[in-house]
Amino acid sequence: MKPHLFAAKPSAESDSSARPRVAVGEKTVPKTIASRLPPVRGNYTWFSSGRAAFAYLLSEIVPVRTVYLPTYVCWSLVDVMLNRFPETQLKFYSVDRSLNCRYPIDADADTAVLSIHYFGHRAEMYRGKEGVLLEDCSHVPLGMITPDKHPPEEASVRRMSFGSLRKAYRVADGGFVEGFFNPVFEADRHLSSWLRLQATDWKDLREAENMTDRHWKISDISGHSLAAILQTDVESVHRQRRQNEQFLAQHLTVGNPMVQFRADECPLLHNRLIESTSARDSLRSYLATQQIFTSVHWPVHEHLIRNRDHFDCEDAAWIDRHVLSFPVSEDYDFDNMERICNAVAKWHRSGASRFVGNTLSGM
Ligand SMILES: Cc1ncc(COP(=O)(O)O)c(C=O)c1O
Repeated sequence: MKPHLFAAKPSAESDSSARPRVAVGEKTVPKTIASRLPPVRGNYTWFSSGRAAFAYLLSEIVPVRTVYLPTYVCWSLVDVMLNRFPETQLKFYSVDRSLNCRYPIDADADTAVLSIHYFGHRAEMYRGKEGVLLEDCSHVPLGMITPDKHPPEEASVRRMSFGSLRKAYRVADGGFVEGFFNPVFEADRHLSSWLRLQATDWKDLREAENMTDRHWKISDISGHSLAAILQTDVESVHRQRRQNEQFLAQHLTVGNPMVQFRADECPLLHNRLIESTSARDSLRSYLATQQIFTSVHWPVHEHLIRNRDHFDCEDAAWIDRHVLSFPVSEDYDFDNMERICNAVAKWHRSGASRFVGNTLSGM
């Protein structure tokens, strides 16, 4: 006896209204049902890192004569430019202490200007008349930046979004370019992400980070990172990070918040501006003795320091001397944030900048 499934097989003509159909170009065809189809193509192209995504854009999609980076920027993007694109003219526009960008006015059609949504805070994008806008979304979970971002109608700026995935997600590697491209990847054994996943202490983790920092290849994301990213519940990440950040913004007793996050923004860190470098370094050392590890985002790149006569990096250098970044990741809750605030208050009460430890060396 025939299985029931095949019992009433309708002809192609008779089932036209009952079956779901997908449009391919002009024609309408029934949806294909089969095993082992390639994965559904999303609107992202995945890479091993934010640097790989950035390098791919500049080498294959929008090769330009001049690239403008902000003076307040992650070292890795400057390193990509110096190492992979020595022939491309590298310029910088300045960023003030509140992260407002002073965008260039001389950018032409052969220029790319990079704008960063710093630490999850929506930035005013480059809105020139010509050129390419490279929108760096590294600090934001995918899909959380929505367009108010397009340049004005009359402008012919091409916008390309990309980013790292290691910041906003709990993964060892990953980067993306928005849109579907088909890169030919460079060979890569993913040793840094392997070491990171094997790491059992700070030293291994540090070495994995160092390996990642020395990595210039345009290669593919590892499968475990992609799976983790696609399974992340962005809503709950957003909720927890926002609560943590708000708690620190309200209860830390030293310095001032660097930015005020909007309700729909997902903070990556709580950046605090501390009155002096010695107080900042003292606090950082003290917190490390309490197993609370903070960081400095970002030291000014040595290339900029060497060229400070040509680019105004004064405010970026001021931030470098005053900022302290506190973790607010979704792994932490109210109790953890309270512990941070109590430790900071204790440091404050006990003479603050008198504490100069050396516990950060080697970290
Ligand atoms: C804003 C920004 N863009 C790009 C990158 C580069 O990302 P990756 O380390 O994945 O190469 C980073 C890294 O910290 C970053 O902070």
